[in-house]
Amino acid sequence: MEIRELEEKDYRGLCSLVLQVYDEVPYATSFGKRPDERQLSELMQRKLEGMRSKTVVDFVAVEGDRVVADCEIVKSTETGGLIGILVAGDHRRKGLGRRLVEKCSEKAKLFKMLEVYAEIDDRNEGAAEFFSRCGFREQEGEDALVMIRNI
Ligand SMILES: CC(C)(COP(=O)(O)OP(=O)(O)OC[C@H]1O[C@@H](n2cnc3c(N)ncnc32)[C@H](O)[C@@H]1OP(=O)(O)O)[C@@H](O)C(=O)NCCC(=O)NCCS
Repeated sequence: MEIRELEEKDYRGLCSLVLQVYDEVPYATSFGKRPDERQLSELMQRKLEGMRSKTVVDFVAVEGDRVVADCEIVKSTETGGLIGILVAGDHRRKGLGRRLVEKCSEKAKLFKMLEVYAEIDDRNEGAAEFFSRCGFREQEGEDALVMIRNI
């Protein structure tokens, strides 16, 4: 298993991962409906361009040509970033998600992000527990579940 930054060649593997997780837990993704090729291509371009302009951090875990996990932090305020993470079903509960959060956070710090936050659907109790275990705390006064951590 290799953990490294996202590259152009990961496109197909990333598409498979996003669709697999969408089919399983649609509310864990940012898509309101199953993403089509155009939306997936836009997602990839947004990530790669953001990485070049230092507003996106993105690490993947790769096994052969299969992308088994992806974690991004997108700079969304002067000092803050929004985190998104997907781990393939057969690779969960092995510490991979936590490793990717740490890897992305280290790099986000270099991009002048001081805190990272997660927006979590109310139904996604597993993700809330995961972020809590990674040191995130629930933010007061939000309608949706927002959890935040200093980096
Ligand atoms: C949430 C997610 C990223 C966690 O990834 P993971 O690689 O399984 O997480 P880790 O193995 O690093 O878990 C670290 C700790 O978090 C907690 N945790 C992780 N998943 C959990 C779950 N489903 N339920 C309860 N606790 C959980 C556990 O305490 C775990 O440690 P343990 O396995 O020793 O008990 C993964 O389940 C996933 O991709 N889910 C679908 C997409 C999603 O919900 N993304 C978040 C959107 S906001």
